[in-house]
Amino acid sequence: MGSSKEIIVSGMRPTGRLHLGNYFGALKNWVDLQDKYRCYYFVADLHALTTAYDRADAIAQNSRDMVIDWLSAGLDASKCTIFVQSHVPEVAELNTLLGMITPLGGLLRAPTFKEQLEEIFEKKYAGQMDIRDEQGIPQTHAEKICKLAQQQLLELADFGFLGYPVLMATDILLQSGDYVPVGQDQVVHIEIARDIARRFNDVYKENALKEPKPLLTKIPKVPGLDNRKMSKSYGNTIELGDDVESVQKKVMSMFTDPNKKRATDPGNPEGCTVYAFHKIYNQNAAAVEAACKAGETGCVACKKQLFELMRPEIEKFSAARKVYAGDIAQVEKILKTGAQAARENAQPLLKKVKTLMKLLQ
Ligand code: TRP
Ligand code: SF4
Repeated sequence: MGSSKEIIVSGMRPTGRLHLGNYFGALKNWVDLQDKYRCYYFVADLHALTTAYDRADAIAQNSRDMVIDWLSAGLDASKCTIFVQSHVPEVAELNTLLGMITPLGGLLRAPTFKEQLEEIFEKKYAGQMDIRDEQGIPQTHAEKICKLAQQQLLELADFGFLGYPVLMATDILLQSGDYVPVGQDQVVHIEIARDIARRFNDVYKENALKEPKPLLTKIPKVPGLDNRKMSKSYGNTIELGDDVESVQKKVMSMFTDPNKKRATDPGNPEGCTVYAFHKIYNQNAAAVEAACKAGETGCVACKKQLFELMRPEIEKFSAARKVYAGDIAQVEKILKTGAQAARENAQPLLKKVKTLMKLLQ
């Protein structure tokens, strides 16, 4: 590993098997980055506990499944460091230390905190909690949350949950990350990480913590089969691990322009799931668009063509997945080696932080 290379750090919460939305949204980019940078990729299992600690039965299995998908998609343990966050105790140590210097204000204001609080709130009360104002008018979501924040914050939100961005900052700062590939929704968290680094360096008058930058890449739109956002909770996904036959079935069931009933009807590719996928897989998506609009192709043919374009990657992926899923010992070894490498990279930084914080060592 060339130590002159810049450092990339990124994590994913263990959601189990990944779908094509996860793949094109993040994983593919991770794979591309591993040749150019020194990459630390990890399963953010502690982050998973910040919101679902009481429903975490599947966390170990989900972590393993996700790593198998990473490897099958081409993350290469000889090029990058792959580990599980909770296997690196330095994370917990630095998290404690950084917590000491992090003001509550920024954490309470973080939009992600508010949104997640909203989510927990919705799950808990499933719309049954009807908060009204003095005139008896039902409150909007935002207003409800405001009320909730006052009434129930202390009950619903946990310490770990409020500290989500501190833990994330810890992940990045601990490995001295230069860049963090994330989606737009996580950029505020990178900002918080920068704030924490800057504050630490100010307080202790040394440039100990590197301020990380977000790495935003163009992400193609990957709709689900029904053209809503691809999401496990909608049951509209194509999983990376799906076998060829089930992908074929799924492609044939994709949402298309409902007004295009016959092959010869002119169609509108915008808003058609099949077309959105052509834009990803087909070098010549423009031809698909033109043929659709001119009523020169039918949706069945269009889907078949798409599936054939997807097939090689799917076959490659399933074959790789079989190998890794059948050799858990190898996966565990990769994670063990990865955790060791992550710990080694982290230890000098942690030592420096402890020294600056004047702890007896
Ligand atoms: N919060 C990120 C997410 O939900 C996951 C994550 C945890 C992460 N720690 C990180 C991402 C550090 C980048 C760097 O997607
Ligand atoms: Fe969609 Fe293709 Fe049918 Fe047009 S022809 S509506 S792009 S599936």
